[in-house]
Amino acid sequence: MPAPRALVAVFSLFLWGAAGICSEAQTSSDASPEIHSFSVVTSAAALPNGLELRDGSLMMRVTALRDDVLRIRASRTGVLPEDASWAVLSAARAASVEVKQDSDARVVGFHTASLRVTVDRGTGVMKLFDIDGNLLRKDAEPMQFQGDRFRVAETMPIDEHYFGLGDKTGAFDHREAAFRMWNTDAYGWQESTDPLYKSIPFYVTYRAGVSLGVLMDNTWPSSFDFGKTLGDTVQYRAEGGPADIYILYGPSAKQVLKSYAWLTGPAPLPPLWTLGFQQSRYSYMTEARVLQVAERLRRDKIPADAIYLDIDYQEKNRPFTINEATFPDMPGMVKTLHGEGFHVVAITDLHIAYLARQTYAPFNSGVAGDQFVKNRDGSVYVGPVWPGPSVFPDFTRQQTRMWWGTLYKSFTQLGIDGFWNDMNEPSVFNALKTMPCSVVHRIDEPGFATRTATHCEIHNVYGMENSRATFDGQLALRPDVRPFVLTRATYAGGQRYAATWTGDDSATWNHLRLTTSMLKNLGLSGFSMVGADVGGYAGTPTAALLTKWIEIAAFQPIDRDHAEKGTGDHELWANGPAQEDIRRRFIETRYRLLPYLYTVIEDGTHTGLPLLRPLFLEFPNAAPDRHPLDVDLNTSGEFMVGPDLLVAAPAFADKAGDYDAALPTAGWYDFWTGKEVGKDRARVLAGGLQSETATGPVLPAVRVHRELATLPVFVRPGAMLPIEPLVQSTSERPVGPLTLRVFPGPNCSGHLYQDDGSSFAYQQGSFLRMSFTCEISADHRQINIHIGKHDGSYPAWWKQIALDINGLSGPPLSVSVEGHAAHYVYGVHSIKINVTDRGNGMDIVVRSAVR
Ligand code: GLC
Repeated sequence: MPAPRALVAVFSLFLWGAAGICSEAQTSSDASPEIHSFSVVTSAAALPNGLELRDGSLMMRVTALRDDVLRIRASRTGVLPEDASWAVLSAARAASVEVKQDSDARVVGFHTASLRVTVDRGTGVMKLFDIDGNLLRKDAEPMQFQGDRFRVAETMPIDEHYFGLGDKTGAFDHREAAFRMWNTDAYGWQESTDPLYKSIPFYVTYRAGVSLGVLMDNTWPSSFDFGKTLGDTVQYRAEGGPADIYILYGPSAKQVLKSYAWLTGPAPLPPLWTLGFQQSRYSYMTEARVLQVAERLRRDKIPADAIYLDIDYQEKNRPFTINEATFPDMPGMVKTLHGEGFHVVAITDLHIAYLARQTYAPFNSGVAGDQFVKNRDGSVYVGPVWPGPSVFPDFTRQQTRMWWGTLYKSFTQLGIDGFWNDMNEPSVFNALKTMPCSVVHRIDEPGFATRTATHCEIHNVYGMENSRATFDGQLALRPDVRPFVLTRATYAGGQRYAATWTGDDSATWNHLRLTTSMLKNLGLSGFSMVGADVGGYAGTPTAALLTKWIEIAAFQPIDRDHAEKGTGDHELWANGPAQEDIRRRFIETRYRLLPYLYTVIEDGTHTGLPLLRPLFLEFPNAAPDRHPLDVDLNTSGEFMVGPDLLVAAPAFADKAGDYDAALPTAGWYDFWTGKEVGKDRARVLAGGLQSETATGPVLPAVRVHRELATLPVFVRPGAMLPIEPLVQSTSERPVGPLTLRVFPGPNCSGHLYQDDGSSFAYQQGSFLRMSFTCEISADHRQINIHIGKHDGSYPAWWKQIALDINGLSGPPLSVSVEGHAAHYVYGVHSIKINVTDRGNGMDIVVRSAVR
């Protein structure tokens, strides 16, 4: 059915010109393909788990994987492509629930226990409802095909917000913005730069507390437009490949993320040391310099866990080599660093130097095993990168990934602890910034048909498969050690293999602000272990910028100070002792919080929830109009660390003057002092904060006096935070009591997860779990605290728990532990009690008025 002229124009406008990025590699023979719209249902077949619809030769299959997860697959030719995916686990794709058919004269449809789908017989328009009949999603146009391309268009409700899509920059909310998916080495990226390094074609909608997740599982160049081109329409499209879309129903955004982890796999439990402070630079040029930096970190008592080796440790930038002139004793260096409690991360870029007729094993063994991607004529593709002419492993072959893994053997024997996969978009120093689409990959992979594929199809998933090869290689070489891989490029599902960072940011206040939103969106895209180059990669930060960045990053998942070659020093001591003292205090705070951070990370391996979270994830209904708090200008610098901590960085950290930090609910506590805020020390603004939506929500707010040395951090009422004594690295076993900070409030509880931090013994029960609750009596005169027993066989490092109970209105009348009167120390509005923890659980009763 020919499309109206206007539609044709909109369709092609949205792609990269009429030809598109893949024109060179397109398989379609159509010169100027006609648009086919799924605009009338000519036949419908009921399936046990859904429906199969046709409009002439077009077909669409809508199935329920679970009651709350649907899959839509469509095809122009009437035949679905192979059911294979780099992102979605085969178990999830094979999942199925029975549905009830609901077709009538006007619509065909079905329902599950939670969702109802209808497709209009006359227009092909699909609608999705919750089981109570509330509309969740509606086609603005039926699905369209043009040659190998397809396009989905949905209506865009005026109060809907859009998040996720990986590392996209700009505003946190993607509404009124459009993005392309084409992994790009975007050195010098700025606020409007798109595309960046990653392609994660997954977004989360949020509308008045209700969320859906949408994954377009398609690795081809694609794009997402949230009302930028057509004001009231969300459009997404791909230049080729399968029309394969998953819809995940919340209604909460948390449930969407949990379902996304079910679909694409959760992030594995990382080694504990990766939550420590990490020091990097492009490059510490010599072994002596690396040791000097490490020594200074220890001398200055700056807690730190990792030192990075950037490309200059290598011989002429050749991956898997060592420059013996500048790093004469790598084994000795690694040993010394280990002895001082550091872990070593080495960069291992994927471009293998093209060194025919030389003794460079990665090249020679790669050629012998036919591991590299090829040109159309069968010759190996060669492109310039750091080492000069380079060749590129074909990571879409299982066999090549296994070979790649073996390249790490000598480095792992040296004891190098983690690996950094950079430049894996892949970056090539040519006009395209990558390899041409005509380059051929040979997919040889369980679950996929063995076939060749153009680079156009593989490009966006290439970096993820690189990180997968590294991760699996580590597991094969050191089966008892949790791998750590840091990747720059990735695709949906890449969280299974690697942590990631936001690439080459700049030493500007604006980048400090932008990276917070990027990290929030990465967290909503399945990645919990995320960070930005602290201090900014390009350029030299001012003392104030570096200090503020270090303060904020101390609360972000990956805390890595990194800088470009030629920039000024970035280490904590760079601007003198006064700045260093402030910076150290924040890193120390991070280390004290490790039990909490690690517990939240471990939770995330079950729940799919990231460590760094937008406020709306925890408090979807906080604003009276239920808009997501984070989209307000004055909350845009704020973020949650797990469920309990709110870091209230100002939106514009370089501005002078006091500002109002918004809180989602009343009764929060100041993390630093333990004082309740919103009462005596802070003021709730009379009119509340103004939101951008101008609907006038009234949120509690705290007037913050802006100082370089401080960062407001607040604790949710009802939190119980486990804190450890200060260590200089996670290799040190803490000495002293576990501190449990109690912040009475609704649903007062917390928990703790501990294990050896590095092995898989936790899978055999060698972990320690505890839960805590605190209950305030109805008359507010008593707090009952329960410390749970130890579950699991991993031994606690503490014998004592130091309880720090906040929020009291005055000195207690009595304090008892297991029914016996206990000694306590009263501070202002808080008491401290030391209790012996034998692991059997105990009850503590504080009789006092709670404020
Ligand atoms: C890329 C990376 C950067 C690294 C540099 C040298 O620009 O993004 O982090 O330092 O390459 O390896």
